[in-house]
Amino acid sequence: MKYLSNFIHGLVLFVITILTASCNRNETDFSSRKVTFNNDWSFHLNDSLKDKDTISNATVWRTLNVPHDWGIEGKFDEKSPAGYGGGALTGGLGWYKKTFKVSAADSTKVTSIIFDGVYKDSEVWINGHYLGKRPNGYIGFQYDMSQYLNYGDKNNEIIVKVDNSKQPNSRWYSGSGIFRNVWIETTDKLHVGQWGTYVTTPKVTVEKASVNLETTIQNQNSVSKKAIVTTTIFKEDTKVTSVTQNITIVANANQTIKQETQVESPVLWSVEKPELYTAVTEISVDDKIVDQYKTSFGIRDFKFDVNKGFILNGKQVKIKGVCMHHDLGPLGSAINTRAIERQLEILKEMGVNGIRTSHNPPAPELLDLCDKMGFIVMDEAFDMWKQTKTKYDYANDWDKWHKKDLIDQLLRDRNHPSVFIWSIGNEIPEQWSETGVTIAKELVAITRQYDKTRPITAAMNPPVNMNIDEVTLQFDKAKTYFNSIAKSGVLDIIGYNYAHQTYEYHQKNFPGKSFIATETTSALETRGYYDVKSDDIKKWPVRWDLKFTEGNPGNTVSAYDQVQAPWGSTHEATWKVIKKHDFLSGMYIWTGFDYIGEPTPYEWPSISSYFGIVDLAGFPKDVYYMYQSEWTDKTVLHIFPHWNWKAGQTVDVWAYYNNADEVELFLNGKSVGIRSKKGDDLHVMWKVPFQSGTLKAISRKNGKTVLESEIRTAGNPATLKLTADRSTIKADGNDLSFVTVDILDANGTLAPTANNEINFSVTGNGKIVGVCSGDPVSHESYKGSKHTALNGKCLVIVQSTTKGGRIELTAKANGLKQNTIVITAE
Ligand code: GAL
Repeated sequence: MKYLSNFIHGLVLFVITILTASCNRNETDFSSRKVTFNNDWSFHLNDSLKDKDTISNATVWRTLNVPHDWGIEGKFDEKSPAGYGGGALTGGLGWYKKTFKVSAADSTKVTSIIFDGVYKDSEVWINGHYLGKRPNGYIGFQYDMSQYLNYGDKNNEIIVKVDNSKQPNSRWYSGSGIFRNVWIETTDKLHVGQWGTYVTTPKVTVEKASVNLETTIQNQNSVSKKAIVTTTIFKEDTKVTSVTQNITIVANANQTIKQETQVESPVLWSVEKPELYTAVTEISVDDKIVDQYKTSFGIRDFKFDVNKGFILNGKQVKIKGVCMHHDLGPLGSAINTRAIERQLEILKEMGVNGIRTSHNPPAPELLDLCDKMGFIVMDEAFDMWKQTKTKYDYANDWDKWHKKDLIDQLLRDRNHPSVFIWSIGNEIPEQWSETGVTIAKELVAITRQYDKTRPITAAMNPPVNMNIDEVTLQFDKAKTYFNSIAKSGVLDIIGYNYAHQTYEYHQKNFPGKSFIATETTSALETRGYYDVKSDDIKKWPVRWDLKFTEGNPGNTVSAYDQVQAPWGSTHEATWKVIKKHDFLSGMYIWTGFDYIGEPTPYEWPSISSYFGIVDLAGFPKDVYYMYQSEWTDKTVLHIFPHWNWKAGQTVDVWAYYNNADEVELFLNGKSVGIRSKKGDDLHVMWKVPFQSGTLKAISRKNGKTVLESEIRTAGNPATLKLTADRSTIKADGNDLSFVTVDILDANGTLAPTANNEINFSVTGNGKIVGVCSGDPVSHESYKGSKHTALNGKCLVIVQSTTKGGRIELTAKANGLKQNTIVITAE
C-alpha cells in the first residue's frame, strides 16, 4: 500500500513536474527516486521448503516489516548448530514475498530493487523470473526488474529465499533474514549508475579545496543520448559551486566522466565538527532534467605519519576507537537507525572517536551516522579468505565472490568522509603463508583501483603467540614470528590485534611504516558484578583452545578492570602504551558494546559476550568512566563497586577521576584516606572494611572541591523507576524510545544486586520490541514482554506505530511498586 501511495505521490509530482518543467527546470522533484520497500512482506520459515516451486496455497505466511531477523525470535538452545559462539540461536531457511503494483507511468523507466543486506545466500525472483543470488550477507546489491514488471493495475510478486541453514558459518551471532533496508529505485533510462559517484578532495588548504568528481552514467536506452551533466555542490541549502559537461553516450552503455571544481574557504570535516557537503548530480536531455542523484561528502585532509600517527587537518588526533559487531543487542541484527545512533551517542559520550566495522561491511546507515557524528571508521571487508574459520563460512564462497564483494564495498563506501582506513581482513589464517601474500596483493590492488585516497591495512595476528608463552613477548624472540603479510610490505599501515607489549618495538621492526592497533584489549566484565579483591589480574580462559573450567558461579566476571583474555590485556594496560607514543596512531578496543555470541571466557549457558565496555542493553560498565576521564574534557569522578556487602568484609573501592589532584574517600563521614594517581596510574584504590552506610568521594584541585560522588547501602528493592532516553519520538513506525528500569529501595537508592522479574505492558500507539538486562547468561527472549533485571537494571525498547499520540509503558514486579511512563509519538 505504502509503495502504491508513493507511486501515486510520485505520479502527482511527475505531472506537476511536466507542467512546471518548461517554466523552471529546477523544480523537478526526485524525492521518489529511491523509496522504502520495507513494509508488508510475508514471511515463512521452513527448513524443508528448499525449492520455490514447492511453495503452495497451503504455505502459511506471516506479515511483517523488514529489516527482520528471525534468529532473534527463536529460543536459545545448547544444541543449536550455530553453537554458543553463534549465540546459541537458530539459523534456518526462510522465504519472504511481497505483492505490489507499479504505476503505468513508470513503464518507460528503470525500476530496481535494492537490498542493503540479506543474511545469507539470498536468491530473488520477480514474477517468476530469477534475478540472482548473493551469498554474502553483509553487502548490498540491487536488481533491475524493469523488463519483468507488470505496470498499471496488475500485481507483481517478488520472492526472496534466504538460506542460513548451513551452520556454523560465523564466529559470532549473525542473525538471519532481510536484516537491512530494502528500497525501490525508479529512474529514467539515462541515469547515474549504482553507487555511481566518486567524490574526492585531493588538495585541501584553508583557502580552497579541489573537488574531483567521477560520475558513471548508465544509458539503458536503445539509442545513443546527448546530455548535459551538471554537478552542483551545496553546503546545507547554499549553492557553493557548479560544473557542467556535455556528453554523448551510446546505447546500452556506461560512461564515466570526470569533473573538477573548487570550494573556496572549505569548512572541514573533523571529529569535533563533522561538516558535510552535498554534490547534486543532474543529467539533462533537451533542457529537461531526467535524473538527479545526491552524494554526501566531506572535505578533510589526513595522513598517517610514521612518527606522529594520525594527522587530521594538520592536527594530531589519537584514534580512540572501538570494534563493533553489527547486532543491536535485543533487537538482534535487524538494523534500526535510531538504535545505531543510540550506540554511537553512548560511545561518543565516553570519548570514542573511532569505529571498526568488525569484521564485515556495515549497514549503510552506520556510515551515514559516523559521517554526521564524527567517527574515524576502519571499514573492514572479511573475517576469512579462502580458509574457513567455521565449517560453512564465507571461505566457501571466496573464489567466486570475493572480488565482487570487495569492489561493491569500495564503491558503496568510498564517498563517506568518516571512512579513513580499509581493512582487507581480520586474523586471516593465510597471513602466515605465501598464499596469504598473494591474496593480500590481489585485495590491495583491487582496493587501490577503486580508491587511492585511503590507506590499506589488515588486522593481523601479533608477532608473538599470546596464547602460549609470555617469554616470547621479548623483542628479539618476537621478531621471529612476523607473519608473511606483515613482512611483504604490501600494506600501507601495519595493523596488529593485541600484543601491546610489542608496540614499542614497532618503529624498529617496520622502519618507515605507520602503525595502528587494529584490535586491542579483550578485557572481560559483567556489569555490576565484583570480585571484591581487585588487585590481581585474571587471565580467562587460560588458552583460547583449552576448555575453560574455572570462573565464578553464575558465569560472572568481575567488573574491576582485572580480567582479560590471555591474548589481550586489561583496559588500562593497552591504553597506557597507546597513550605514551605519538607514533602509535590509535587503537580499536574489542569491543565497544557487548554482542550476542562468543561468550568468552564461558560456554553455555552463557550466550553473549563479556568484552563490551557497554553491556548488551547499553548500560556502561565501570571502565567506561576510565575512558571518559582520559578521553573527554568532561570532569569525571566515578567510584565503585556498590555498597552492599557483608559486615567486616574488606572491599576494594576504585575511583576514576580527572581534572583534580586527589580524591578523598569518607565512610559514614570518616576519612578513609586521600589518594592521587602516580606516574601513569589511571585509577586510585582504597581497601575498606565494609560498614553499611554512605561512601562519599571528593575530588579536589589546589585544595578546592571539584566533584563529589556518593554511593549508599541499599535496602530491599521497593520500587521501579522508569527513565526514557527520549520521551518524544517520531510516529513513523520505526523510531524507538529506550527506557531504563532501575530497581530502587524505599529511599531511592539503586538495589545493586536486585534481579526481580519485570513485566511490561503498553497501551496507546506503540509496542515493545526488545527487553534486555545485559546478562550474558539470560535465556529469556529479548522479544518478550517480561525480563529479569541484572544487578538492579533492565532495558525495555518501545517502538512507535505510524499513528501519533500517547504511549503508556507500565512496569510491574512482584512486591514492588509499579510505575508508568508516558512517551509521545508525533
Ligand atoms: C580476536 C578476534 C575477534 C574476537 C576476539 C575475542 O582475536 O579478531 O573477532 O574473536 O578475538 O577476544
